[in-house]
Amino acid sequence: MNNVQKEYAKLARKYDEKWHFYVEATLQETLKRIEFHSGERLLDIGCGTGALLAVIEKRYPDTILAGVDPTREMLDIAGRRLSKKVHIEQSWAESLPFETETFDVIVFCSVFHYIRAPLIALKEVIRVLKPAGRVVITDWCDDYITCQICDLFLRVFNKAHFKTYRKKEFYQLLSSSGLDDIEIDGYKVNWFWGMMTATACKNASALIHE
Ligand SMILES: C[S@@+](CC[C@H](N)C(=O)[O-])C[C@H]1O[C@@H](n2cnc3c(N)ncnc32)[C@H](O)[C@@H]1O
Repeated sequence: MNNVQKEYAKLARKYDEKWHFYVEATLQETLKRIEFHSGERLLDIGCGTGALLAVIEKRYPDTILAGVDPTREMLDIAGRRLSKKVHIEQSWAESLPFETETFDVIVFCSVFHYIRAPLIALKEVIRVLKPAGRVVITDWCDDYITCQICDLFLRVFNKAHFKTYRKKEFYQLLSSSGLDDIEIDGYKVNWFWGMMTATACKNASALIHE
């Protein structure tokens, strides 16, 4: 088990209760920015206990859903919460167990600050997205002072944490991975949590020039 798995194995049983406000708020902000069309395939990377997938499953019953997470204890809870139609699998963002061009939409919610090889993860996203597929990423935003403090604290005291990003830095990261049509919204869900949601597209410019 690595540090992320140790951290979330410990937290899994209490995660939904302890983080209820935060998960509900970030999930709603993320959902607002996901565009679905009937019958599309969606992957939630770092799906944890399956909170986002559960809402999507209820709201859009004809969407084909999958979730991955490296922490078995989080996935066990997701498995109990979701219907058998949702495919969940133990995996890291950096190495996705799916064929090329499988998904229309890929979501990360409160996961990116753990990812140690972000460019490799984004290349994997691009690989498994269909042409013109969309990615939606919600995470803490280092443009807010409270998040900068939180990031510094966790870098010292929490071995699972990796780093948070400013909007400008995150834009550059997404752009250098090859994603197009990047937009990043910053917002606060309460006085403490300064967040951002990024949306981007695979091959948007190629499609326009076809
Ligand atoms: C804060 S929880 C978020 C869970 C869920 N997305 C939510 O919004 O409630 C972070 C999750 O990211 C997972 N995670 C951490 N590093 C990851 C990585 N490199 N690839 C995929 N998932 C990762 C953890 O196991 C954990 O379940």
